[in-house]
Amino acid sequence: MRTQIRTRSVRSVDGRGDEEQNSEHGMVTAMRVGRRADVHCFKSTLGAQTGLLLAALALGPAWAAEDPGSAIVIKFSHVVAPDTPKGKGAEYFKKLAEERTKGRVKVEVYPNSQLYKDKEELEALQLGSVQMLAPSVSKFGPMGVKAFEVFDLPYLFDGYEAAHKITHGPIGAAMLKQLQPHGMTGLAFWDNGFKEFTANKPLRRPDDFKGLKFRVKSSKVLEAQMRALGAIPQVMAFSEVYQALQTGVVDGAETSPTNIYTQRWHEVQKFMSLSHHGYDAYAIVVNRRFWDSLPADLRTILESAMSDASRYVDSISAQEEIEAINAIRGSRKCQVVELTAEETSSLRQVLQPVHQQMGERVGRELLESIYLATRSDRKQSEASAVLPVAVR
Ligand code: LMR
Repeated sequence: MRTQIRTRSVRSVDGRGDEEQNSEHGMVTAMRVGRRADVHCFKSTLGAQTGLLLAALALGPAWAAEDPGSAIVIKFSHVVAPDTPKGKGAEYFKKLAEERTKGRVKVEVYPNSQLYKDKEELEALQLGSVQMLAPSVSKFGPMGVKAFEVFDLPYLFDGYEAAHKITHGPIGAAMLKQLQPHGMTGLAFWDNGFKEFTANKPLRRPDDFKGLKFRVKSSKVLEAQMRALGAIPQVMAFSEVYQALQTGVVDGAETSPTNIYTQRWHEVQKFMSLSHHGYDAYAIVVNRRFWDSLPADLRTILESAMSDASRYVDSISAQEEIEAINAIRGSRKCQVVELTAEETSSLRQVLQPVHQQMGERVGRELLESIYLATRSDRKQSEASAVLPVAVR
């Protein structure tokens, strides 16, 4: 773990030093200390200077290099393990960006909530304390960008092909634009994958969920999903889930198999049910002011690096999901529960009304346009149940 975040090589376009510039954004302390203290100081800085977020959004950092000898640093913070599609995608982007800009850009990847937890990393991006993130889109809701919670609707997509029609098509592009007024530029969507439920009992039918407490991301749609199953949702940062499961603060959780395996939830949960009930997307976002201040040629190179990194993530995510399920099975610490078509359909039936219930929140027009764009996939896959062939 890094104990100090170096900012020495980053220079401002207007010639001011780091300290002055960061001070303007209330971030001197956070930029100069290690992880825990960093989070701590960041919180207190925020607490003491609530108006600063708005000020930072208005002024924003402008950290392009004025000195051709010094690299522009992109701090890319994320909350998952390096050995996941997102972790690998971040490293691949770093490699391509540094190679193709011939050292003019340096990408520092901070995985595993090393710098910030879920909500804090979004605030840190808006303030310019980090430049790039890849949060699960469910986490944009508390910022007021509710449309992204549409992805949390249970059984919205039957497979990657359907999901990519949205994330890699015009609907996804329009959604990313909604981040601009919040001080962010959305560059791409990546897959986390399809989520499975974990608990200390096999979860096969809606009745199995009754009265259990489940950790969810900060999404009202996910809260509604758990309530529809008769469970109690509890919003919690990703980095806190392992301990919450271990100590029984919550009874269960949901995420992708790669996250379950790399966060070792399977060591503290007796069962993982292959419910495949929801698609989890990431949006790769950059601080808008930072991005706009880059020389145009660099932005073009970075966009191409991101586009290739996105293709790479697409190419590995489904396979990594299968490998993680097999690894969890092989660990013999957690039983992998395969659902019958009838059990899956009983879950679908109870969860379907969440679409109607949360339609207003996510935007009915958006939801209809997603149905329309993916309807043919839906029909095809309804005939062959929900799970990808390799998992079944
Ligand atoms: C979560 O459940 O919080 C995950 O989506 C975290 C992540 O970034 O994959």
